[in-house]
Amino acid sequence: MKQDMIVILDLGSTENTVLAREIRELGVYSEIHPHDITEEEIKALDNVKGIILNGGENRVVDGKEVEVRPELYTWGYPVISVDYPASRCDVRFDSLPDQETLKKFVFDECKAEANWNMKNFIEDQVELIRRQVGDRKVLLALSGGVDSSVVAAMLIKAIGQQLVCVHVNHGLMRKNESESVVEVFRNQLHANLIYVDATERFLGKLENVSDPEEKRKIIGGEFIRVFEEEARKLEGIDFLGQGTIYPDIIESGTKTAKMVKSHHNVGGLPEDLQFELVEPLKQLFKDEVRACGIELGLPAEMVYRQPFPGPGLGVRCLGAITRDRLEAVRESDAILREEFAKAGLDKKVWQYFTVVPDFKSVGMKNHARCFEYMVIIRAINTIDAMTASIEHVDWEILDRITNRILAEVENVNRVCYDMSPKPPATIEFE
Ligand code: XMP
Repeated sequence: MKQDMIVILDLGSTENTVLAREIRELGVYSEIHPHDITEEEIKALDNVKGIILNGGENRVVDGKEVEVRPELYTWGYPVISVDYPASRCDVRFDSLPDQETLKKFVFDECKAEANWNMKNFIEDQVELIRRQVGDRKVLLALSGGVDSSVVAAMLIKAIGQQLVCVHVNHGLMRKNESESVVEVFRNQLHANLIYVDATERFLGKLENVSDPEEKRKIIGGEFIRVFEEEARKLEGIDFLGQGTIYPDIIESGTKTAKMVKSHHNVGGLPEDLQFELVEPLKQLFKDEVRACGIELGLPAEMVYRQPFPGPGLGVRCLGAITRDRLEAVRESDAILREEFAKAGLDKKVWQYFTVVPDFKSVGMKNHARCFEYMVIIRAINTIDAMTASIEHVDWEILDRITNRILAEVENVNRVCYDMSPKPPATIEFE
């Protein structure tokens, strides 16, 4: 079933996504498109019920104000404008309309039906994937992160064993993370899953490398190589599944957006490995991806997990990675997560983790001098990850976590709390 849609034309607003979200919250699907969309393009979208011209502070591009095509008003759609001097609209607003006004436009004027929900979305996508893929095969790099996990669950529902998932364990995953990917996808969802334990290979390449950027490059590059090697072993793969989500598309696609970033994917694969992309989440915002994962039956821990950098614990094991410090990061992170969950902080705090620097300090254990590492706890809150403030964790909880880390994690004799906001610090500590 094709959902009714309200199209937002981007005329330089910084609030396109806010508006799209508000319309979707009314149960009506909404997409953002470039200001100069043509009649053919909009008709091809199917089921468009109305258009909002969304102007704003970025409407001047290269010294010229961007405009919609003048013939747009003759295409037969109800049109309103926001912060855009469109003389031919019946209704104009200076700022985003409130919910009641939006409701009137969407339901009374556009006569849209509230048929946007996860159940319908999944049904549609399953149908589309089956049509696109036919009886051929799709390859997916399954990191265990939210997006790749939800794509995997969607593809399993649509094409079952025609999906081949590759999970590369780079040895820098959190405690039990790879095990849980195998448990959920291979044992519960019966996915066709190739598990590659590349720990030794990654740690070997990272030996004695202390520069954070260099470490990231090695991990990223090696990941592509391992994935490529697995891809070459397989036969008859025509498609690559990707966890591209709507913000990736918007950030790389609008003409007026000031901050343009290319959307990241498993780029870097050699050109002779040519795949067509399958991107079933590309219309969803992050919270919708999570709702989709729940609807598809994924465990809440997987769907609501906090952000985790691709290079994993490698980022948080400062300086050149050593196995003893990597274990200390992994074990202390597991304790922190367990204690935050017990205290209900896992639902409140945006991101929390531990870091182990590459120096030792003097301490005392069993009445004798010891010379060991420290664990730094970091817990932050943010809305968009651009700026962040620290969580004011109760002393009692910090006390408990500290005592557990000191008692249970080897080679550690000191625990500190990072008080730094972003900026000037970053969220990660590397
Ligand atoms: P920073 O440290 O730059 O982090 O303030 C902002 C957010 O991005 C996450 N982060 C990453 N996420 N791959 C990712 O998918 C990465 O390489 C990466 N590095 C940082 C970080 O955890 C924080 O949420």
